[in-house]
Amino acid sequence: MTQIGTDVRLAAEFLQAGNVVGIPTETVYGLAGNAFNPDAVLTIFRVKNRPAFDPLIIHTDSLAKVEQFVTSVPEPAQKLARMFWPGPLTLLLPKHDQISDLVTSGLPTVAVRIPNHPLTLDLLRSIDFPLAAPSANPFGYISPTTAQHVADQLGDQIPYILDGGPASIGLESTIIGFENRKATVFRLGGMALEQIEGVIGPVDVRTHSTSNPNAPGMLSSHYAPRKPLILLKPGESPQPDKRAGALAFREPFGGISPDNQRILSPTGDLNEAAKNLFAHLRTLDALPVDVIYAEQLPNQGLGWAINDRLKRASVQD
Ligand code: TXA
Ligand code: MG
Repeated sequence: MTQIGTDVRLAAEFLQAGNVVGIPTETVYGLAGNAFNPDAVLTIFRVKNRPAFDPLIIHTDSLAKVEQFVTSVPEPAQKLARMFWPGPLTLLLPKHDQISDLVTSGLPTVAVRIPNHPLTLDLLRSIDFPLAAPSANPFGYISPTTAQHVADQLGDQIPYILDGGPASIGLESTIIGFENRKATVFRLGGMALEQIEGVIGPVDVRTHSTSNPNAPGMLSSHYAPRKPLILLKPGESPQPDKRAGALAFREPFGGISPDNQRILSPTGDLNEAAKNLFAHLRTLDALPVDVIYAEQLPNQGLGWAINDRLKRASVQD
């Protein structure tokens, strides 16, 4: 059985011994292993049931360490790193040879970020290797935002979960790459586009490729609950239905039992909505309902990333 606790030293010991452990970050919980230990990396893929073609993000605690894992850091990447790290932003950079192809699934770039969570930063400072860490959910399911979510789904497979409380942002990091001197966002996430563009100017957004197996976070069906999720059009209401649940933005829908509804943010705060999104989806998934309706949010700030996750979680033609 897994142990849940706040003992950074114990987590470090497990990691040093080649085990994988659950770690808190500001975005979602990660399933972490020593990125320099091929057995630990393989264990991550096995525990998550993740296909080998889906590369992992490397987590560390300083820009100086990042520079050891990559061959160059283009100027816009440096600006973003200085401005937003530690934070919910992942940079795709040309990888150094010491980063194994197992971690990057053979890609020439490596995804790196410095997470903004005090326990995990302590942990990263106390070990002499970076941590490869995907979200700590079974492949294709909703990402975990509490230690209990991790225990519920992976608990019997990992020895320890470092409990850092509920994730403060609640959406996976925004992923940005720099090909041919052009900054491109490959995954919308916890760092709003407006903030990124405020630092490096307009960026391309290419998150809808359904054909790129190198970034399954971009696959059209992902982050899904087990119940079918139906995305409502803006302004649309669900049909009255006793066996339906709903995820609403500010207030519940008529025609659906209030017990079967979860509200993302009564005050209409998109950051609060992001923080609640995955936990509410899990709760709805566990209720005695046959279908979940979800309201779309305004396309601004974290609303873009929330709508992106809802769309990928939804039943699509
Ligand atoms: O917020 C986060 O990023 C969380 C926390 C734990 O840090 N991690 C996370 O990891 O969301 P994961 O593995 O669930 O999602 C990483 C995404 C995947 O869609 C993967 O395909 C993409 O990053 N990725 C990783 N390396 C890449 C690369 N070199 N090029 C393109 N995409 C990459
Ligand atoms: Mg994930």
